[in-house]
Amino acid sequence: MALAADYNLGPNTFPRGWFIVAESKELDDGPLAVRFFGEDLALYRGESGKPVLLDAYCAHMGTHLTASESAMIVKNGEQIEGDSIRCPYHGWRYGPDGQVNDIPYFDGPCPKSAAIRSYPVVDNMGCIMAWYDPDGREPDYQPPMLSQWDDPQWVQWELDHLGELAIHPQEILDNMADARHLGPTHGAPCEYFANEFKDHVYIQRQGGPMQLYQTYLQTTTWYTGPGLLLSKQVFAGNEIYELIANTPIEDGLVKAWHAILYKGQSNPASAEDKAAAREAQAGALEAFGADFNVWQNKRPALRIMQLKTDGPFRLGRKWYSQFYAKPEDMSDIQAEVNGEHLTQGLKTPEEVNHNIDGDLRFTA
Ligand code: FES
Ligand SMILES: [Fe+2]
Repeated sequence: MALAADYNLGPNTFPRGWFIVAESKELDDGPLAVRFFGEDLALYRGESGKPVLLDAYCAHMGTHLTASESAMIVKNGEQIEGDSIRCPYHGWRYGPDGQVNDIPYFDGPCPKSAAIRSYPVVDNMGCIMAWYDPDGREPDYQPPMLSQWDDPQWVQWELDHLGELAIHPQEILDNMADARHLGPTHGAPCEYFANEFKDHVYIQRQGGPMQLYQTYLQTTTWYTGPGLLLSKQVFAGNEIYELIANTPIEDGLVKAWHAILYKGQSNPASAEDKAAAREAQAGALEAFGADFNVWQNKRPALRIMQLKTDGPFRLGRKWYSQFYAKPEDMSDIQAEVNGEHLTQGLKTPEEVNHNIDGDLRFTA
């Protein structure tokens, strides 16, 4: 297993950015114990509907806030009060800001030093997304949001939970520059291909004949930060958006999710549209599964033997390194890679009049 340092990422071990930490509906059944970024975390939804993510361990005696099923206040459904949560051991109550705001058997002021870390969290497109920054800074951009999510003609996704993958996310991000795997791996060799970097956004535009559906496939794919990929895909009169997300659990171990947002024939989307959406998601998962299968079995590519007719892997890795860099070094890295980068031997999007971007803005 290769680690961040093996790829010369750093100085941080985990990247800063917005990441999926759960599917929204998972919180309907109560608080969750999760682990990401090398930390045990407590995730719950407050009574107002607000999702809250805290470091897991109570300052009093180290109890995990959301791992107990047998404590009486958990069994009685009394753990959540407003947007606060009580520790199952002695009932200290934590607010969504991580501060202790009530101790049931103590009438003095709650100790400020009992505060635990709270992470910025949003409920966005059926996903709980958290901002992680090893340097503890507030978000410097918004997570991606598709306006189609709230359009009744579009069938909202339910996530495919792909589980844990023992690979460094660098290898997943390499896919963005990887023009030459599209034929052998996916049966959809690109005729044209280009990448573009815009600060924290990494874009890929490509298209070509697709074996599986006997059609011409065009895609505009973009990462918003290091963990959230969206891809607009147009083929045979269909339009879909694919989501692929990775969140580090430990250094060299990620959790991954996948989903498709599907435009129905009727407005609002009918039962048939919903069935077609499930089918489209299963088909897309099968295509993505070909990448997943390679990742599960490959050895780490600490160095890529990049040919001049390969895509711009090195630049892609440079872009990705901004999320592991000191905050003050990010803008230098962005300035170094920003702009459009072509791949020798392939047409440019302009040459084939790639015009599927429409109103994509790439930033929220
Ligand atoms: S350990 Fe949490 S209240 Fe005592
Ligand atoms: Fe791929």
